[in-house]
Amino acid sequence: MTGGTGRLGQRLIGPLQEAGHSVRQMSRRGTGPGGVRGDLATGFDLATALAGAEVVVHAASDRGDAWQVDVAGTRRLVEALDRDRLRHLLYVSIVGVDRIPYGYYRAKFAAEQVLLASGLPVTLLRVTQFHHLVDVLLDGARRGPVLPVPMGWRVQPVDVGEVAQHVVDVVGRPPTGGVVEYGGPEDLSAADLARAWAVARAPGTHVVATPLPGKLGAAFRDGAAVPTGGERGRRTYGQHLHG
Ligand SMILES: NC(=O)c1ccc[n+]([C@@H]2O[C@H](COP(=O)([O-])OP(=O)(O)OC[C@H]3O[C@@H](n4cnc5c(N)ncnc54)[C@H](OP(=O)(O)O)[C@@H]3O)[C@@H](O)[C@H]2O)c1
Repeated sequence: MTGGTGRLGQRLIGPLQEAGHSVRQMSRRGTGPGGVRGDLATGFDLATALAGAEVVVHAASDRGDAWQVDVAGTRRLVEALDRDRLRHLLYVSIVGVDRIPYGYYRAKFAAEQVLLASGLPVTLLRVTQFHHLVDVLLDGARRGPVLPVPMGWRVQPVDVGEVAQHVVDVVGRPPTGGVVEYGGPEDLSAADLARAWAVARAPGTHVVATPLPGKLGAAFRDGAAVPTGGERGRRTYGQHLHG
């Protein structure tokens, strides 16, 4: 697994072991159970980290350096893998990377193309925003007692533990050679989420839905971040807030 110290990666180790995998997980820090060091940005120790891997869950990412880590790093990963041993490589991507004009998403889409062109047995699992990320974004958007949110944006956030379990399920099946989607149980507006968050985390905050012009806003309003197929998690954002 790559990204074993990440928010998703940390939740993957236990379920992968329970499914019978012997887990080695790689990150720059290399901490945690079965942790080894490897750097996708430089290629440092990648071949050692990947030696003998039959299944790879690629969950490392760096939003601040995505072209180097996610795109070039995925190319380095492909080159460092033992092609003869590999049975399945699952890449964790994001719903809408093909439609939403946002720099980080463009890099994720480019990383998908690297994998599709690699000839390896891959599955590209596009998932929606984790509940925690929604919390962080809303907290960051608050300006005193006012919380502005983009009007009409549709999102379908998901529980990270359910994503981890789904990753384990999907990687245990034959590779699809293409995209699979996964999201939470509810298609919600950003304002719905913000109101629920405000009640639970910042009482007295006023949510103000504001029109956001441009192609990015149009894509979110059009539902580009909402999955059209695949399975769904069960845990709602409300349960996350109050759980
Ligand atoms: N967060 C969300 O809401 C969300 C939604 C949909 C999809 N996803 C996708 O799910 C995946 C996991 O997301 P996350 O939120 O769990 O990420 P995260 O918490 O930011 O963790 C990123 C992981 O990547 C590792 N990493 C970063 N740069 C690296 C490098 N140069 N070489 C090797 N490892 C490196 C980090 O470890 P070190 O710092 O120790 O290197 C860390 O383990 C990502 O691909 C993301 O795009 C996330």
